[in-house]
Amino acid sequence: MKHIYQKGRDSSKPTLLLLHGTGGTELDLLPLAGMVDDEASYLSVRGNVLENGMPRFFRRLAEGVFDEEDLVFRTNELNQFLNEAAGEYGFDRDNILAIGYSNGANIAASLLFHHQQALKGAILHHPMVPKRGIKLPDLSGKSVFIAAGTNDPICSPMESNELRSLLEEANAAVELHWEERGHQLTREEVEAAATWYRKLYNESFK
Ligand code: MLT
Repeated sequence: MKHIYQKGRDSSKPTLLLLHGTGGTELDLLPLAGMVDDEASYLSVRGNVLENGMPRFFRRLAEGVFDEEDLVFRTNELNQFLNEAAGEYGFDRDNILAIGYSNGANIAASLLFHHQQALKGAILHHPMVPKRGIKLPDLSGKSVFIAAGTNDPICSPMESNELRSLLEEANAAVELHWEERGHQLTREEVEAAATWYRKLYNESFK
């Protein structure tokens, strides 16, 4: 997959996996990596699917209606890519923390839903429930920060709460943060994610 890898100063830190929103590229979320942890390595990936020229991580049939077969295929493809990238660049495959926005948050959530070992944790900006009716793996020891919008027209507050419940029922530790700026990725929510990350890192990533 097309990507950028930047080795960080501190290899004990998680590798930040950056996953852009629809129409984005691997350049979009680089500033977020700096805000969350400027000592960590990062791997920023471009989605393999194009929708009218806009990169995405999986196909959709309409806004908010996912092509579930492609979602599963692309989730497996990304998981496999992470295995290969860890070997190629020499980072710890078991210590990846995803930071995703919108479509990127949805594929990150899908990694958690389908692959127990894919991620150590995730910061999900405006995610949806990637798939319903499946049994999640045991996510004990995984930590997830969700930034959602009380007035997000794409992911309703009900869906954000549903995602939290599904992850918690699978034993993940979840923090849900609310903003009031629709589907926008706000500086405030990135700062809240950075605060959550620092607390988590001090407690358990050492
Ligand atoms: C998706 O397709 O993943 C969601 O609708 C969010 C987005 O617009 O990317």
